[in-house]
Amino acid sequence: MRAIRFEQFGEPAEVLKLCEIEEPVARHGEVLVRMQASPVNPSDLLNIRGNYAKRPDLPATPGFEGVGIVESSGGGWHGAFLKGRRVIVLNRHTGNWAEKVAISNQFVIPVSSKLTLDESATFFVNPATAYILVRQILRIPKNQWLLQTAAASAVGKMVIRLGNYYGFHTLNVVRRHDQVEHLKKMGARHVIVFNVKHDNERILIDQIRKILGNARPQYAIDPVGGQTASSIVKLMGERAKLILYGSLDNAPLDFLARELIRNGGSIEGFWLAHQVEALSLTAKINLVLILTKLIRKGVLQTEIGAWFPLDQIAQAVTEAEKTGKKGKVLLSIQ
Ligand SMILES: NC(=O)c1ccc[n+]([C@@H]2O[C@H](COP(=O)([O-])OP(=O)(O)OC[C@H]3O[C@@H](n4cnc5c(N)ncnc54)[C@H](OP(=O)(O)O)[C@@H]3O)[C@@H](O)[C@H]2O)c1
Repeated sequence: MRAIRFEQFGEPAEVLKLCEIEEPVARHGEVLVRMQASPVNPSDLLNIRGNYAKRPDLPATPGFEGVGIVESSGGGWHGAFLKGRRVIVLNRHTGNWAEKVAISNQFVIPVSSKLTLDESATFFVNPATAYILVRQILRIPKNQWLLQTAAASAVGKMVIRLGNYYGFHTLNVVRRHDQVEHLKKMGARHVIVFNVKHDNERILIDQIRKILGNARPQYAIDPVGGQTASSIVKLMGERAKLILYGSLDNAPLDFLARELIRNGGSIEGFWLAHQVEALSLTAKINLVLILTKLIRKGVLQTEIGAWFPLDQIAQAVTEAEKTGKKGKVLLSIQ
């Protein structure tokens, strides 16, 4: 079968190769899934560059998320139940950018037939992150303010729609002017342009003051890190909470401890994998039901930018990081 592989960590467009490898076999407790589609997420690219929380053994196949059809099982009632079903595959072990994947039953989720292929391929990682951050960790009350950076990302857009749906306000920071109109059209009321590369921190502070007056945000989420997250720390209100969930800038934080001490604020890291592991089976089922409902309503919808076949992997990973891309890049694996 065909699979994407990398033998060394490095730039995705250079190190990823399409290979012919032996088809895996489902062992007891596993299913064999014929993959249909998988997104190219920032975490996949981080993994290929060797910067992800856990480095894989090499050679490795990337692709943490995706959707496929269960072709066979390694036995047991659970495998028999899954056979023939369309499932979401959450794969931090063998990677989904392959025609077939053998994976433990516990990492596949049967998906509602009401969801499209696009919606199923992007069902979990970003929707669950957006939902858990604002509803389960921060639990932002109605009419409160949430400040978020990289607001034009797939997660950022979901957070904007969640704010409109649940009644909290979002202050949305983006790094380019041409992102403003699109976000406003999809329902963002406040969009602030701030680019650490050429803007002084004052620009961010002044724009936020203009909107909030003397008030300060109690809640903030940031996937950028570096100077951007450090500036947010200085803006936070009394006992405010900032959650860091990405490191797009690949730069360290830079602020004085007293900036945080002054207001008794707190900073937490968020990793979806840990969060989900800690959920009970009932909580996991409830989460899947809520995500299905909110995806169908359009609240947790992912805009798709482009589809690429496996043999255009270099173009796919390049497009996924292109400034101004139209939406999520998906790999078609059929
Ligand atoms: N911790 C977790 O468990 C978890 C789970 C899911 C997602 N995430 C993180 O969430 C983030 C967003 O993921 P996504 O799939 O929604 O991303 P995405 O749709 O690919 O969008 C990435 C966005 O980030 C912006 N960006 C990239 N580098 C930046 C920088 N240095 N400074 C400011 N903005 C920058 C891009 O802006 P331009 O258009 O200007 O390039 C783009 O709007 C990623 O960091 C991802 O790793 C974390």
